[in-house]
Amino acid sequence: TVPLIFDTDPGVDDAQAIAIALAHPEIELLGMTTTYGNVDIDTATHNALLLAELAGQRVPVAQGAAGPLVKPKHPAPTHIHGDNGLGNHALPDAQGHAETICAAQFIVEQVNARPGEITLVAVGPLGNLAAALQLDPGIVDRVKQVVVMGGSIREGGNVTPVAEANIFNDPHAAARVLTAGWPLTLVGLDATHRCVLGPAHMDRIAAAQGRLGEVLAGSYAFYRAFYRNALDIDGCCPHDSCALAWLMRPELFTSVRGHLSVVTEGDAEGQTLFAPQERAFIDPRWSRTPLVEVCMNADGDAVVAWIVDTLT
Ligand code: BDR
Ligand code: CA
Repeated sequence: TVPLIFDTDPGVDDAQAIAIALAHPEIELLGMTTTYGNVDIDTATHNALLLAELAGQRVPVAQGAAGPLVKPKHPAPTHIHGDNGLGNHALPDAQGHAETICAAQFIVEQVNARPGEITLVAVGPLGNLAAALQLDPGIVDRVKQVVVMGGSIREGGNVTPVAEANIFNDPHAAARVLTAGWPLTLVGLDATHRCVLGPAHMDRIAAAQGRLGEVLAGSYAFYRAFYRNALDIDGCCPHDSCALAWLMRPELFTSVRGHLSVVTEGDAEGQTLFAPQERAFIDPRWSRTPLVEVCMNADGDAVVAWIVDTLT
């Protein structure tokens, strides 16, 4: 099994990824850490607790970043994930409460308790991972690997012409996390935009997932309307589930090893720049940033089939 901490800002596509992490027989979900992003931090924490409860599971949830490290905080764009993060679908109150320690402490404690074993999957702005690195830089050598949903190399952005939302929402945190030197894979829009989860897929998931399925389907309906209006796609890109798909089925993706950097200021704020390993000679400064793995493509149909299989 894969012991995992899931760092998330739920979020419609986050919710589906949480359902996968809860359902997959080979994933041991040690806990969720929450961040502001798609919603404010209290809503993110509430949704993480609630989604696990709807699946009939008790999973520790540790609350984290309420805003970006450096840049001013902007309110979440409610037209994408709704005011409540789950497409304005009516929700019961979560019964449980967050852990008394914060997200960064939770990450550090868990990683240090099981050196070399734990995978971090981060699918929101990266403030919690940045804070964990600051709290204990030694975790770089003690995590098994880090998988980040974020960024875009050739695909263009989804917030600005060049920036993807998770990186744009906290570029300074992203710069630290993506160049920390731990084994890291970036699953960005180059891969996630190849995957479209259509309404028929969602119907199957909803039918199989009980109370959680009802919330997944209700929130999906709102998210789908956004995709239809904004991108003229009938279906949604399951961004955050793609990070888990890469973890469990990497052969469904094409990835390239190289050096990453993040633009933290100016018009290109939040852009991820990538030099494949063999091209680092162009400017020796590039080879000073650690090597990472970046997904450049995905077999979209196979990824969506894996998501549906996992949830049905
Ligand atoms: C990412 O941004 C958020 O809106 C989604 O949950 C996903 O993590 C996609 O750019
Ligand atoms: Ca997310």
